[in-house]
Amino acid sequence: MGLIALGALTAGGLVLRSEYEKKQLRVCRYEIASRRLPQSFDGVRMVMLADLHGRSFGEDNCRLYETIRSLKPHYILTAGDMILKTRPLDTERTARFLYRLTRLCPVYCGNGNHELELRRVKAGRQTAYDWYAGSLREKEVKILSDETAVLCRDGEKIDVTGLDLGLGYYGKGFHVPMRPDYLDRKLGRPEPGHFHILIGHYPNYFPEYANWGADLVLAGHMHGGTVRLPSLGGLMSPNYEFFPLYDGGLYRRGRSAMVVSRGLGTHSVNVRVGGNYPEVSLICLKRRGRAGNGD
Ligand SMILES: [Fe+2]
Repeated sequence: MGLIALGALTAGGLVLRSEYEKKQLRVCRYEIASRRLPQSFDGVRMVMLADLHGRSFGEDNCRLYETIRSLKPHYILTAGDMILKTRPLDTERTARFLYRLTRLCPVYCGNGNHELELRRVKAGRQTAYDWYAGSLREKEVKILSDETAVLCRDGEKIDVTGLDLGLGYYGKGFHVPMRPDYLDRKLGRPEPGHFHILIGHYPNYFPEYANWGADLVLAGHMHGGTVRLPSLGGLMSPNYEFFPLYDGGLYRRGRSAMVVSRGLGTHSVNVRVGGNYPEVSLICLKRRGRAGNGD
């Protein structure tokens, strides 16, 4: 009886802790320095959002909006799963929030697996994805569906590409090797000499993204590993990968860097425990001079 009571108390405590953590908002700051970055992008601030999954921080996401506004971003980029495939009707709230963000600065959105799943959901004569993407494009939100946008400052340019990673690559608990020519066929080759940002929702293909030529990868999907354990990191990804390698934070490979957001929302396993707070990522770009180390 004592053990049952202890188990129930522990479970209750974890539920309460998770409900507390899910309501928090934390700004995680990253500095990305590169000598490939044009001078006019030195000091540029980018806010990255991921995995909102249709939820709201405050009425119509007013708390999230104010947090982003206070960071004074030059660009806002979303790294996928801003909506929830099982609640396509809630996409309207997320769409409203994303086009409100265009008051602050240009907004560029990549697709995650949940956006791609909306292509299978009918909404009248079109799919739920067509409605969502169409309504955003009408409001000047840029959707990058296997597309590249060029960001310009004082005549200098960097590129941002959004990858629609095929749903077959999201293996449930196992890794699906990527075809060697997959990224080239979908995206073409990166412009030589340009600093190139790739929004690749699923971080497990970081080696392939780096080999393709991404200087900076923006990813999410892992929800910080759901439950964070001391010394061990995230316990489980949304697709049931235990102790995922890329559970959140900054990773490097050669001249490439990858920022993996712990995301803002949850779905299916609606749990955040262990200091796994919803994340707003602030990425500061820095031009590295020739005297610096690395790229
Ligand atoms: Fe995802």
